[in-house]
Amino acid sequence: MNSKKYYITTPIYYPSGKLHIGHSYTTVAADVMARYKRLQGYDVMFLTGTDEHGQKIERIAKEECVSPKQYVDHIVDGIKDLWALMKITNDKFIRTTDQEHVAAVQKIFKKLYDKGDIYKSKYEGWYCTPCESFWTETQLKNGKCPDCGRDVELTQEESYFFKLSKYQDRLIKYYEEHPDFIQPISRKNEMINNFIKPGLEDLCVSRTSFNWGVPVTFDENHVVYVWIDALSNYITALGYLSDNDDDYKKYWPADVHLVGKEIVRFHTIIWPVMLMALDLPLPKQVYGHGWLILEGGKMSKSKGNVVDPVVLVEKYGLDAIRYFLLREVPFGSDGVFSNEALINRINSDLANDLGNLVSRTAAMIRKYFDGVIPQERQSDEIDNELINTIIKTPESVENLLNQLQFSTALQEIWKAVSRTNKYIDETTPWILARDENSKPRLAQVLYNLTESIRIISILIQPFMPNTPEKIWEQFNICESCRSWDSTKTWGKYAANAKVVEKDPLFPRIDLEKELAELEKMNTDTQDDESNDLPGILSQVSIDDFAKLDLRVAKVISCEKVKKSSKLLKLQLDIGIETRQVVSGIAKYYTPDELVGKKVIMIANLKPAKLMGIESQGMILAASNENQLVLATIDKDIPVGTKLS
Ligand code: MSP
Repeated sequence: MNSKKYYITTPIYYPSGKLHIGHSYTTVAADVMARYKRLQGYDVMFLTGTDEHGQKIERIAKEECVSPKQYVDHIVDGIKDLWALMKITNDKFIRTTDQEHVAAVQKIFKKLYDKGDIYKSKYEGWYCTPCESFWTETQLKNGKCPDCGRDVELTQEESYFFKLSKYQDRLIKYYEEHPDFIQPISRKNEMINNFIKPGLEDLCVSRTSFNWGVPVTFDENHVVYVWIDALSNYITALGYLSDNDDDYKKYWPADVHLVGKEIVRFHTIIWPVMLMALDLPLPKQVYGHGWLILEGGKMSKSKGNVVDPVVLVEKYGLDAIRYFLLREVPFGSDGVFSNEALINRINSDLANDLGNLVSRTAAMIRKYFDGVIPQERQSDEIDNELINTIIKTPESVENLLNQLQFSTALQEIWKAVSRTNKYIDETTPWILARDENSKPRLAQVLYNLTESIRIISILIQPFMPNTPEKIWEQFNICESCRSWDSTKTWGKYAANAKVVEKDPLFPRIDLEKELAELEKMNTDTQDDESNDLPGILSQVSIDDFAKLDLRVAKVISCEKVKKSSKLLKLQLDIGIETRQVVSGIAKYYTPDELVGKKVIMIANLKPAKLMGIESQGMILAASNENQLVLATIDKDIPVGTKLS
């Protein structure tokens, strides 16, 4: 049995909409680690998934007239497709709607309740009635609902609470005894100073104001609220409290939970306390990475950059996107994402540095030796400097990857790329080729270049799922000299291997042209997306809606418009005045039927003439191919009353 185990997780994603490139950041980083550890011979468990319960999902589903499960099923399919496109090698995908997860969460909740760590009390929060949402004081925006901007009311709700406060001292002690538990270290100080020192408050862990959640088995009005459900995934996915907990026994505790900085708090306070209360071991590390942000704001399409990972992968190739994500920004810090920075990186690091090294070397071997480097070779002092640099690279990369320093690990590999490119300039193979006597030396130079490329191609494997294979095919690098360990030995490239011609690995991109194209695409997709739902028009803001003056109006009189089978002329009382409106409803209503009816009219619509008659507004009706019914009011209310 393999004793080297490695368990890594990403957060589970909210399926509340399409994922953007920022979301794929955590998952790509975790995938690099999983691939790297597998290459090192570890038995890896790499978990990702979706966090599907909660009020927000319930509300979106309602707006879209589907059940929450139907809604999440659709989005989750898209997320799984995205991970397949990005060649994410997760071993498991957990959905919090999985039956096994739900059952285990119910058992966890009951265990904590039986132990006295969960108790019933009252939750007080700010409630937005139209959104049916509770908000904390700090979540409010200028005292209003952060979602819709309307007034909120201070409301109480019966809830279960989890005794975080009881574990405060144990938690601090754990941090002290495990200095690497929270990484980077700055995040640990943030947790201690901002949350733990001021005193941990007990946490509300159930709700009665919505239904889309895991039901509390012993109190059916309640569903488990967010964090107990979500965080448990890291152990329920392994079968904790199920009939088969082999994976739990094998992989828990996790080696690292990778999370974005905004959820470090939940992973380093609530989660460890939950585990302490359950008498389970704690994860070895929680790593809080920074955010990819767009200049001047959050990730969103409206800022002029294409951030849809599917589009980016299709346009530039998976390896370029994965490289960029992890190279551009040091893992713990925030960084700016822009299409321009992406294209610049592709051109400089991938097309110029790596791509050219590979294509130049292959071209020279084909040109000078018909594709096969001869056995007879001659080394030189100058080679040692190259060899020493390259041979040290794997160890530095390992050290950096073990600390999740992806960007610096890539920089180390690119130092090797640059050193090898420099070796070409130093040795000038094209000059050696002019003299038949220099052929053994030329062969050695080309061999050294190929050997560097071999080692580099293995080291980029965790980051790039496609490029290494292409290089191996081009240089005919045999199976046995592709292993991770083989990077530590110089001289493994086999004699008589045949080098073949291939397309460039990373074609250069015309920056200006490309940016213009992306800009155009971005505008087009925005237009597309506002029409996301079939038949629904582009979105308008609440301010746009407020421009319409909708009023209750009473039909005082009505007659047919002469020579028209469709039109009726109505006189409407709107309280302050009488309005004449011409409406195309003659096929569905007789004038007699309408007199005395209260209808809804748009009072500030520009007047228009229909069959020469002025219409000073419009009345509202619902219609399809066969029917038309006027919109009326549910209960009586004076004419002229405004609708909002
Ligand atoms: N469902 C919770 C996590 C529960 S884990 C028990 C959640 N989901 S999320 O979909 O909102 O975010 C998932 C991850 O994506 C988080 O780690 C978050 O930090 C990360 N990112 C979302 N936008 C991001 C960027 N723009 N940049 C980097 N990471 C980003 O939180």
